Amino acid sequence: MPKKTRKSNPSPKTASTETYQHPESELLLRPEVGTQAQFRKKKRPVTYRYDSSLSPALEWDGQNAVREYGEWLLGLISEAAALEPPHRFAQPREFVGAGQRMVVTGLQEAVEQLKRLGKPFLNWAGKAERLSFDVPTLPLFVHERLSTKHIVETLTGHLKNKQLGLDLFGDPQHTVTDQVLRAYEYKDKWVNRLILGDSLVVMNSLLHYEGLGGQVQMVYMDPPYGIKFGSNFQPFVRRRDVNHNADEDMTREPEMVKAYRDTWELGLHSYLTYMRDRLLLARELLTPSGSIFVQISDENLHHVRELMDEVFGEENFVVTFCVKKKGGQKGELVDPINDYILWYAKDEQRVRGYYTQLYKQMELTSDLLGMFSIVELADGRVLTLAELEELSDEQVDYRSAPAALFRDHPGVRLITSSDLTVGGTRKNQSVLLEYQGRTFDPGIARGMCWKHTARTEDGSPSGMQRLAEAGRLLVTGSQVRYKRYLDDFGYMALSNWWDDVGGAANRIYAVQTNPELVKRCMLMSTKPGDLVLDPTCGSGTTAYVAEQWGRRWITADVSRVPLALTRQRLLTATFPYYQLKDESRGPAGGFVYVRKQDSKGREVGGIVPHVMSTSIANNEPPDEEVLVDRPETQNGITRVTGAFCFEATIPTPVDWEGDGEEDSGVGGEEHGSFLDRMIEVLRKSPVLHLGGGKTVTLKHVRQPAKTLSLSAEAVVVNGDERPAAIVFGPENGAVSQTLVFEAAKEASAKRYTHLYVIGFAIQPNARELVDNSDKAVGISATYVQATPDLMMGDLLKNLRSSQIFSVCGLPEVRVLKAKSKAEDEPPKCQVELLGLDVFDPATNETHPLKGDDVPAWFLDTDYNGLCFHVCQAFFPRTSAWDNLKRSLRMTYEESVWDHLAGAVSAPFEPGEHQQVAVKVIDDRGNELLVVKKLGEAKG
Ligand SMILES: C[S@@+](CC[C@H](N)C(=O)[O-])C[C@H]1O[C@@H](n2cnc3c(N)ncnc32)[C@H](O)[C@@H]1O
Repeated sequence: MPKKTRKSNPSPKTASTETYQHPESELLLRPEVGTQAQFRKKKRPVTYRYDSSLSPALEWDGQNAVREYGEWLLGLISEAAALEPPHRFAQPREFVGAGQRMVVTGLQEAVEQLKRLGKPFLNWAGKAERLSFDVPTLPLFVHERLSTKHIVETLTGHLKNKQLGLDLFGDPQHTVTDQVLRAYEYKDKWVNRLILGDSLVVMNSLLHYEGLGGQVQMVYMDPPYGIKFGSNFQPFVRRRDVNHNADEDMTREPEMVKAYRDTWELGLHSYLTYMRDRLLLARELLTPSGSIFVQISDENLHHVRELMDEVFGEENFVVTFCVKKKGGQKGELVDPINDYILWYAKDEQRVRGYYTQLYKQMELTSDLLGMFSIVELADGRVLTLAELEELSDEQVDYRSAPAALFRDHPGVRLITSSDLTVGGTRKNQSVLLEYQGRTFDPGIARGMCWKHTARTEDGSPSGMQRLAEAGRLLVTGSQVRYKRYLDDFGYMALSNWWDDVGGAANRIYAVQTNPELVKRCMLMSTKPGDLVLDPTCGSGTTAYVAEQWGRRWITADVSRVPLALTRQRLLTATFPYYQLKDESRGPAGGFVYVRKQDSKGREVGGIVPHVMSTSIANNEPPDEEVLVDRPETQNGITRVTGAFCFEATIPTPVDWEGDGEEDSGVGGEEHGSFLDRMIEVLRKSPVLHLGGGKTVTLKHVRQPAKTLSLSAEAVVVNGDERPAAIVFGPENGAVSQTLVFEAAKEASAKRYTHLYVIGFAIQPNARELVDNSDKAVGISATYVQATPDLMMGDLLKNLRSSQIFSVCGLPEVRVLKAKSKAEDEPPKCQVELLGLDVFDPATNETHPLKGDDVPAWFLDTDYNGLCFHVCQAFFPRTSAWDNLKRSLRMTYEESVWDHLAGAVSAPFEPGEHQQVAVKVIDDRGNELLVVKKLGEAKG
């Protein structure tokens, strides 16, 4: 029983939603995005190496390092064989070649290494040439803090105290100084994490900035399947169906394009490299008893399995689950109707000790009646199913209509029989048994005996006698067998055959996994409070399941579209409140499981008896099994997702800080060629579209003679004769505040007329600086959006050359003074999202979008400029919040929810910073942020 049970009816005046927290776990301080410009703790890229003994260059005929290594091993083997057992060398022997150092201590090791060398291997273009690879080591910055509990409390006006509000976000509230100087040193309370970034870079950051190596209990990875582009990269938040060949369905996110190129440049060859690199890093993150599950389809199962053998070792393969897909998949000849989940352990022996057996309730099917083919009627008669059918007046076939059996014979119990003999000769078991006037032989002459004692020395009842008294013996022909009822334990151990799951219901993402799959993997391989990682988040199924089952989670995706969906899914989710054994420890202390029955006497708790012949024969209570997916639920509590952070790696391809340390691991040369390309494009397409039909045409576009931060200069046609300055954002990321600041300072000092900041994406604070550059730095600036089509190049069939550069508008927002309900009520404000202009890179046109027609918008009612706290989250004209609204219907007025499905916020009290921030997510997952001073509020 729980030490402390929660009140089942929370008072409407106080908290009504609950979350799980993880007080025993900590996390290193990650700086907030507002401190990015000051961040100095840079790290060099990390080099990962593969084991050269698995080099595919094993050609015994040729002259190569592996051949040399093989011959060296053979030499060691003959040398070691001549030594005394255990054939170990006085000093370990070393082989250095092919960039690797191999060590052998004796005969056994030499033989093993030689055997490994001789194994067949999977080879592909680029494998032998790349026995190591570099990954940039980038810090993760916190962009947003999210808390459903905070949203509910704000909405209902219960949150008066700002301090309490920040606690609900799990915000440790470090000073800017601490964030800059002591980032990645301080330990904070755990919060779950949603990360925008390439899986490789994110995992590398977790390993090398945060030291999370060896701490992840489970990795669930559902990567692109290596078959189609579109089917794995959904370009729209609100459209699930994508046509993988259509230009308009192509993603336009720079990071995604890069991820796509990395994955696909050489087709399957790049895919194999992509997968192997990620598997290698995932392995480093796993605890010694950790597990990795990889979801994959028929097409590349064999390749991925070989990769995993290589990275994890074939001895650490656990099993492949066959998962039936939902709906009909069509093949040329035979329809492939299943996917696979591969399970590998970091160390199979250790996983055995950590594994939890799952059980599945047996369903009343024809197969079940085939197995339990004997019935015991309410009057005690025991018959076979066939005998029962014969007794019936009508013609019945219960195997084809199992439910009819219970309708026709209320109280019937299903029985199967099992053997009561075992091999061996034992004193009180190798004897004849007298039962019901007959004598039964277990097969003594064949070396068989009874499973339980059939006689005793002291006259006490024997095991077989106890079974007889309990009515558990069944005579079938010349045998006595054990009578096993279905209700002794109506469950079977879950096997690897999962034909009962199918695809996800109510999918929000094109390739969404059914949560049941992830749940099974998670419950088998982790315990409450453990850490799980999903490096290919998609719509956040792993995070959602982890949240439900009290596991800590980190998940990452390179695309903003799925992350927008994940945010919505997590923010609006409700879960049962599973009782905790020890509330002060959170889920890590375990859930409460009890044995209980319903009014019909059926076992419905998480602990169920497992009646077996042994306990009856020994006169002991039956064994009990824990059904881990049936913890005790606390009625009356609505559990919501705990506070979580939205974080991102920010790749900056050059050294903007000027400290001589290259920030992203990408060479300066590459950036140079990117600059050249951009200048070339600007020369060929010199028209900048400024919205409202206005354009600016540039001439004499060229690189400035001497510059620290600018990319180009140009003269505006029909404008000032003095040139304007131009700075390009990074090729694979968003324009940062530092970039704008440095460029504006230089442009102002050199008396350029204007600064054009051209980028594929821009960070919110950078955008704010552009719009205020006149006042802040003394030169006016404009942000110009470059169509990401520029980077798609040959991926797009029709790259249009017109309107390549276009001004991207900010959301139009109005701050209103809310009407006071009572005279003594403090003044309150409301925010209205009027709309925004959205640039469509497929048509190169700008469309106006009304405030209540955006997929999502968020409001920070007291923006501190460092990180966005999602105090109110709006999903206009959707039913996203309906679940939570229904769960809390007894507690709050319906009307408070209307705000969250519209374009006008709920009223709020102004906070200390006297400014609000509004973040709008458009259909392509782009985020636009606008900051408003509350002094501008209109009455
Ligand atoms: C098959 S989907 C995952 C779907 C997920 N299981 C769900 O339930 O929604 C694969 C995801 O991997 C992401 N992805 C592809 N390449 C990536 C990379 N290099 N780093 C991180 N995520 C990547 C894609 O954006 C896509 O969302």
